[in-house]
Order: sequence, then C-alpha cells, then structure tokens
Amino acid sequence: MTRKFLFASCASMAMLAAPVNGLHAQAADASGGAVAAVGVSDFDTERARALVSQMTLDEKVAMVNAAFGGRARTLRPDDKRVGAGHGFGVPRLGIPELFESDASLGIANGIDMRPGDAATALPSALATGASFDPSLAYRGGAMIGAEARSKGFNVLLAGGVNLVRDPWGGRAFEYLGEDSWHSGVMGGAHIAGVQSNRIISTIKHFALNPQESGRAVANAVIPEDALRESDLLAFEIAIERGRPGSVMCSYNKVNGDYACENANLLNDVLKRDWAYPGWVMSDWGAVHSTAKAALAGLDQESGQELDTQVFFGAPLKAAVQSGAVPQSRLDDMVTRILRSMSAAGLLDDPAVQDEPIDQERHAAIAQQVAEQGMVLLRNERNLLPLAATARRIAVIGRHADKAVLSGGGSSSVRSFGGTPVDEAVPGGGMMSLVRKLYHASSPLAAIRARAPGAQLAYASGDDVGQAVEAARKADVVIIFAEQWRSEMVDVETLALPGNQNALIQAVAATNPKTVVVLETGGPVLMPWLDQVGAVLEAWYPGQRGGQAIARILFGDVNPSGRLPVTFPASDDQAPRPQIPGLAAVKAAAAEAAKKPPVDINSPDFVIDMTGGVAPFDIVYNEGADVGYRWYQRTNRKPLFPFGFGLSYTSFRYSDLKLGEGGEWSVAFTVTNSGTLAGADVPQVYAAPGSDGNSVYRLVGFQKVYLQPGESRRIALSIDPRTVAAFDTAQRVWSVRGGPIGIRVGRYAGDTVLTAKLNVAATQLRP
Ligand code: BGC
Repeated sequence: MTRKFLFASCASMAMLAAPVNGLHAQAADASGGAVAAVGVSDFDTERARALVSQMTLDEKVAMVNAAFGGRARTLRPDDKRVGAGHGFGVPRLGIPELFESDASLGIANGIDMRPGDAATALPSALATGASFDPSLAYRGGAMIGAEARSKGFNVLLAGGVNLVRDPWGGRAFEYLGEDSWHSGVMGGAHIAGVQSNRIISTIKHFALNPQESGRAVANAVIPEDALRESDLLAFEIAIERGRPGSVMCSYNKVNGDYACENANLLNDVLKRDWAYPGWVMSDWGAVHSTAKAALAGLDQESGQELDTQVFFGAPLKAAVQSGAVPQSRLDDMVTRILRSMSAAGLLDDPAVQDEPIDQERHAAIAQQVAEQGMVLLRNERNLLPLAATARRIAVIGRHADKAVLSGGGSSSVRSFGGTPVDEAVPGGGMMSLVRKLYHASSPLAAIRARAPGAQLAYASGDDVGQAVEAARKADVVIIFAEQWRSEMVDVETLALPGNQNALIQAVAATNPKTVVVLETGGPVLMPWLDQVGAVLEAWYPGQRGGQAIARILFGDVNPSGRLPVTFPASDDQAPRPQIPGLAAVKAAAAEAAKKPPVDINSPDFVIDMTGGVAPFDIVYNEGADVGYRWYQRTNRKPLFPFGFGLSYTSFRYSDLKLGEGGEWSVAFTVTNSGTLAGADVPQVYAAPGSDGNSVYRLVGFQKVYLQPGESRRIALSIDPRTVAAFDTAQRVWSVRGGPIGIRVGRYAGDTVLTAKLNVAATQLRP
C-alpha cells in the first residue's frame, strides 16, 4: 500500500482558495477540534477509528501519555532506541510503540544517551534557510529521516518554524529565519523530506516561542490578527506543504494561556480553521493541567516525567470516568495519533533498527547545505575567491585547526567523524544537560588540501601578539570567529564573545587582506567591518563545514546564500534591545549553578522547568512586522538586511510583467551578467494597499543557477495570504482590492524592478 501524502485529504487545502460566502459557519465549540468535526474522512481516519473501537480505556490513556525517553524508564533495558521520547503501543492490535528522537539538524545525541551513537550533522537550520532552496531543505530532511529509520526511530522532533523575532534568540540557529513565507515554504519542504521515509515529523514549537530566557513561564502578548499574519502564517504554510503528523505545542503562554492548554491555538486555529487532522504533542515539561489541556486540544503529554505531575495518566482516566473530559475527546486524541501513524506508514512499514547508513552520500548532503547556505557579506576588491596559488596563508582562530562549531541543546548531534571538542557548559540546572560540541571537520586541513603549494601558518588567536605576527608574514589571513548559542539560554549581546573583536581588529590593522569567517548561531555585530577585506557567514556549518568553507574561499563553489535574518547595526536596534526577564533569569541561574548537575538517569530525578523564575509578560509590540519589516516600519538601517548576500558573479533583472499568468502572477527575467557560473535568489516583495503605511514583505523567491550570460524567466504566483489582513471577527483573510506595490530586488528594501499589481478585494478562509 503506498500513500504519497500524510494527509490523504486535507480539507484546509481545498478551502484555501475558496471564498467565504456559502461555507459553513465557524463557531467555536467543544467539538470544533475533533477529526470528525473538521470533515476528515479517509482511509487513515477510518482505520484509526476502527482500531480505537477495539481499545480499552487503559490502552487509550496509555497512548496519550508518553515518557521521557532519555531515562529509558519505559523501554526494555536492551532497547537501543533511546531518544527524547517514548510512546506506548498496543501490541495485541499491531500498534507499534513510538520511538522519538530530536532531529532538527540530524539524529540528536548531544548528551550521549546512546553511548557512542553518531549521525550525520547538517549545518544549522539558519544555513538551510539561507540556501533559499526548498528542494535542498527537502533533501536535508530526507537524509535525517533515512537515518532515523535506520536507527529504529519513527517520530522525529523536527520542523522548527518559529520566526526569529529577536536577533539574540538562543535557538535562532534551529529555526529558518524571520519571514513567514520563507519559513513556511522551507519548513514545509524539510518536513516533507523527513516524512518521505515513512516516519512522522513534528512541526514545532507552536507558538510564539522565540525566546529561551524564562521560556516555561513567559506569557507572549500579541494581538490575534498580528499573530495570524506572522508566526501562525509560517505554521499554516508549513503544515499545508509538509503535512506533519504531529504538532508540538510550546512551553510559553500565549495571550494568557499556556500554549499546550490554549483552546484558541489548538482547537480554534489549528484543528478547526486549518482542519489539521494529526495530533498535538506537548513539549517536554510543558503540560500544566488535565481537563483544561485535554479540552483545549492537547492530544498527548510528552516527556511526562518533566511535568510537575503526570497529567494525562491516571488523572485523565479519572476525568474521563467522571465525565469532566468526554470519552469522545479521549477517542479523538487516540484517533489523531493512529491516523498519523497510518498515514505515514508506521502501521504497514515499520522502521527497523541497525540498517546500514550511506554515510558518504549523507555527508555530501550536509556539505551541499553548508555550501548553499553560506552568505558572503563583504568582498572588497575581489579578495575572494582566493587564488589557489596564494603563497603564504595565515589561518587564525580557536579550534580552526581541527573542527567547526555546532549549537547546543536538544538538537545537538554527535557526528560521524567525531567531536574532537566536547565541553561542559557552566550554569548548573538544566544547562548541565547541554554540551558544547564541535564537529571533526578541520578548516585548516581543508585549506591546506586546496592550496597544496602554500605555506600555512596557524595561530589559535588566544595570544593576539602571535596572531598578529602570523598575519604580518602572510599574503592573506583567514580568521575564524565564533558565537555559540544554545537552547535554554539567549545571548546577552550580539558582540562576538571574548577577545575576538580585538583580535580581528589587530589582525586586520596588520594585514587588510583579512577574510573573516563567522561561525555564529545568528546575527553578530561587526565593529571591524570596514577594516577587513571579506566576510563569510558560515553559520554552524555541519560535519563537512571545513571542506565547504574551503571550497567557497577558493571559488570551487560560488556563494549563493542569502541572509534569512536581519543583522542589526547595534544591540539596541531590534524591537527588544534587552532580553525580557533577563535579570530574574540570571539570578535564578546563579542559584541553580550552586546545585549539583541534573542527572537524568537518577531514579529520583526531578527538574524544575521554570528554572526558579516567576512568570512575566513579553509584549510583541512589532506585531506582524517581524525582522526586516520592523526595520522598514521604523526607518532603521541594519548592518545587513534580510535577503542580502554577494556572489562572485553579478545578476541583472528585467522585463517585469504582472498578472499575465493569473491575477496573482509575477514574472521577470534574471540574467547572469558576470563571468562565472553561479546561483542567485531574486526576491519579490509586496506592500498591500496604497495608503503608504504598509511595509514591503516577502511574497516570493526562487533560487536560480545560471551560466555566464544565461537568462531565465521566473514566474511566481503570490499567495494572497502574504498580503492579506486577518479579520479576527470573521476569522478570514481579507485582501483589500486595488493596486499592490510590487518590487523585485536582491534583498529587503532593494528595488530593481517595480510595478503595481491590480487585484480584486476578496476574503479567503484560512
Ligand atoms: C525542546 C524540544 C525538544 C524536546 C525533547 C524540549 O526541551 O524544546 O524542541 O524536542 O525538548 O528533547
């Protein structure tokens, strides 16, 4: 039996283009979120219902509370499928267990819960985002999914599409960028790739969880329409395109209710408006109630040991018996889980363990993502690409002789090839579950291999004098700078940590032919920008990062990444210059640091997910104008805008035509006007309405590879939701008729071609 899609019938797709008039009313009620109520009736749903009808109450309750797999408490002692989570099956009905692994960037094993088990490590998700290539996002997801299958995991905790609202977000590296359309398209492709392996992917973290500090207690405050037009639009698009089997609700509160007991988010938006037929699993330690959560639309408690008590076990059974939670709601929870299992293929084609992994092919995919995602930010007098004949090269930077940095937290992968640097992180409490890992991919070795005739000098940079000396004797300097980010902690400043700015300044003052290679988890400040010759943003470049960097530096690969996030010019340029709640978070962390490290294998292990921080509000005043839209609205000039990135060649845009292929169509020609082959990412921005108040937002992009002199006609169709306003009273997208300003450019705020698109006023269901 083959099924191409996880949703055999997706009501939301059919409804997408349907005008509102004539469709059924959308009143919120208790049944609004049930699979039956959203009109899903297909093979998988019927099969799920048939299974549910044969299950006992205890079997159903067992399926909706899942364990923290890290403790392996519920696994057989010899079972190797130790990951973040474990869900119960029903063997007598052939319902398999759920083996869940974190997998944002590869099959995670940061804290070595499967001793010695390695996997292919992709670059950070920001690098995938920077590729602006959905087919590459799909291939990355497909690679991770294939390794999951080979290790026996059938649910991947992947698909992070939270918008990077704050440039200092600790988890920015796990997300795709700051724009809804871009994150939705790229995230959907990644999820579809994961699920092409007949396993389930989540999409996470639903919703408005861009901040790590106080994530378990913070209340995100934002108007409903702004939320629908920004973060939720990214989820809406990614869910339509990727069709993930599960949605993971986040830790934080949204407008007063915890996301995992937020009836508006789960029942009204996700399950009713979007007709989502899969299941909602909680984040680990994000459940706070039984009846409230169950009635609001939570379908499964994950990592139940991390909650203050188990909410969906015995308490849920009692709630069903007393009628506080209707039996039909419990049946719907289980139906949703089983439906996704059936649709993904878990019931017919289960993942088997110990299958061989094509490590070489997978490493090549990781390398390709790194090469396509790196962003060339500066290149004075064509310092790059370096001539393979460069005689004397100085390589400077801590660990640049052996490895490349990766981000911290649940996404951390121990990569094939090894982790030559594996450092504990100070902080105590939850931070004791984080390691700072580097992948064994030596930039120095890769540069040496690429320039065999050159004299290479290496200095760690710890001793500035020694580094300056190396720079003085070199024709060209390549200096590696890094900024580590991790889940659970935001960065307090965008300045490069330690002595790195001083080091770069000193080196560049000695030798202006200095190339700075940044390994960062998001934007950083560059006070030395005007003094250096070139800057390459390499993100966390994954397990082939060293090779990918060398290939870009020497021009084997023409850089084509574009920034998926705005790089601010100063710490106080973004909407929240300071991290909300930071003082309290730091005080609590100082207390936590005095306590012994958390031992997840101890039988009396308890974790305080609040970290000892009292609840606080985060007000998202920028509303839907996230990232570059905030800069435009407030007339600020960032260091580098969203969408920016240089190439070793140049591109020309011409012949913009609107409306030729339908009301929403945009077409134009891209020409490689330089002398080298390369890829470009032309971007289409639109400003709805003609009152001059709205900002230009991204409505389309396409990565295009062109030989020198070659031209390609690009035809895009704008999704009306990207320019619509969300009408919260009618719960519809409302497109104001009239001319819409269209710009084709190379980055946000750039205008190469411009025209007005005439569209009729219309309303669309979500
Ligand atoms: C993270 C999730 C992750 C889960 C399981 C949580 O702390 O927020 O992204 O999937 O842990 O490890």
